[in-house]
Amino acid sequence: MTKRTPIVELFKSESEVLIDTTVNVKGWVRTKRGNKNVAFIALNDGSTINNIQVVVDLANFDEDLLKRITTGACLSVDGKLVKSMGAGQSVEVQASDIVLYGEADPDSYPLQKKGHSMEFLRDIAHLRMRTNTFGAVNRIRHNMAFAIHTFFHNKGFFYFNAPLITASDCEGAGEMFQVTTLDLNNLPKKEDGSIDYDQDFFGKPSNLTVSGQLEGELAATALGAIYTFGPTFRAENSNTPRHLAEFWMVEPEMAFYDIDDLTALEEEFIKFCVKWALDNCMDDLQFLNKMIDNSLIERLQGVINTDFVRLPYTEGVRILEEAVKNGHKFEFPVFWGADLASEHERYLVEQHFKKPVIMIDYPKEIKAFYMKQNEDGKTVQGTDVLFPQIGEIIGGSVREESYEKLTNRMNELGLEEKDYGWYLDTRRFGTCPHAGFGLGFERLLLFVTGMQNIRDVIPFPRTPKNAEF
Ligand code: 4AD
Ligand code: MG
Repeated sequence: MTKRTPIVELFKSESEVLIDTTVNVKGWVRTKRGNKNVAFIALNDGSTINNIQVVVDLANFDEDLLKRITTGACLSVDGKLVKSMGAGQSVEVQASDIVLYGEADPDSYPLQKKGHSMEFLRDIAHLRMRTNTFGAVNRIRHNMAFAIHTFFHNKGFFYFNAPLITASDCEGAGEMFQVTTLDLNNLPKKEDGSIDYDQDFFGKPSNLTVSGQLEGELAATALGAIYTFGPTFRAENSNTPRHLAEFWMVEPEMAFYDIDDLTALEEEFIKFCVKWALDNCMDDLQFLNKMIDNSLIERLQGVINTDFVRLPYTEGVRILEEAVKNGHKFEFPVFWGADLASEHERYLVEQHFKKPVIMIDYPKEIKAFYMKQNEDGKTVQGTDVLFPQIGEIIGGSVREESYEKLTNRMNELGLEEKDYGWYLDTRRFGTCPHAGFGLGFERLLLFVTGMQNIRDVIPFPRTPKNAEF
């Protein structure tokens, strides 16, 4: 038995030494074509977007075996590795032995040669990873995760794990999935008729986290600089190409950072990730550039070579009002105090500045309770990074470190101090200036892959009325 070589290795220049030796490849058939003397099988094992061509001399193989090798079938092939004459591939395998692991009945295997719609592929998300597009997206997803860990590790940040089950609502937006073991058909009630959460698993109402930030702040005020990277959950009923109910978020939190340190890190971080993709995923990006969005690579290169704009919210609103005056039509109204819609964000980024924008100093009413309050009494040191095609890709802020100002704001918003006692301890004991942000991992992937819908950059998307697979 010859030892298997992943197909990606065969295309590397180091594989020169394997030329004219017998290799073994295993993978799934993408296509089979040929004539009555010879068959050409394009085999893919997921290690790369590139297929290896297997050349089969029909005289040496059982006709029945060849018939059963159809698109989607899984094979193990032994054969001599030779330089290829055909265009587009550098090496190919001349089959001497073929083992058919699994057939894929052509009448029922859903992935045939022709292009399928993204909607159709979502319905067969368990198989779509075998297509070129979703193979590319998933390899890039891995590489971006690796880039994120590399970036923070190299900067001396510690990877920190926040709990997924929590009793608090970080963003205060009430968009949480409840976690309970109570019998919904027979809820235990107290005398006043309310639900008796003493009998629930955690002894009080609890939910899936919307953000690991609050716990991240606890860690940053002990370890200096940390980042979380894990799933977060939001029960917002937003059926858009940018929202998931379960998505992954990267949340760094840094002691002793001010607003300038924060925006500098946001910019450096995104550029590092985009450059990583260009340096490590070129085969997949070229494929996506050809098939999905032919300005993709240009856009990625553009981002790493441009300075992001710093834009105070007030100035942003002025530009948008100016645009309206000049006849630009928005669906939603623009005025100071409005929570900007994605059409507004995209106007600023795509039409006005034509580059990424970091918006700062938002009205406190539209931002979460923990953001540092400015001297003007009206705005807070929140930052949103706005990207072409995507809109908001990062949300972050300097945190209010004053115990008094923070609890005053919480009282204004009706947040119970007793529910946040552990969080307020960071302000009670050795409080320090600090800041952090959250990057939506799938939003980053939308940008890096050029895919149009966030459902297509996570293997198994969770959205309203959909938790299949
Ligand atoms: O702006 P958000 O809500 O900020 C926070 O949660 C802060 N606690 C982060 C922090 O400062 N540590 O969310 C951060 C990012 C957004 O900018 C967006 O990229 C992404 O998370 N995001 C979503 N991605 C996909 N689906 C959703 N429903 C998302 N909601 C937010
Ligand atoms: Mg936000």
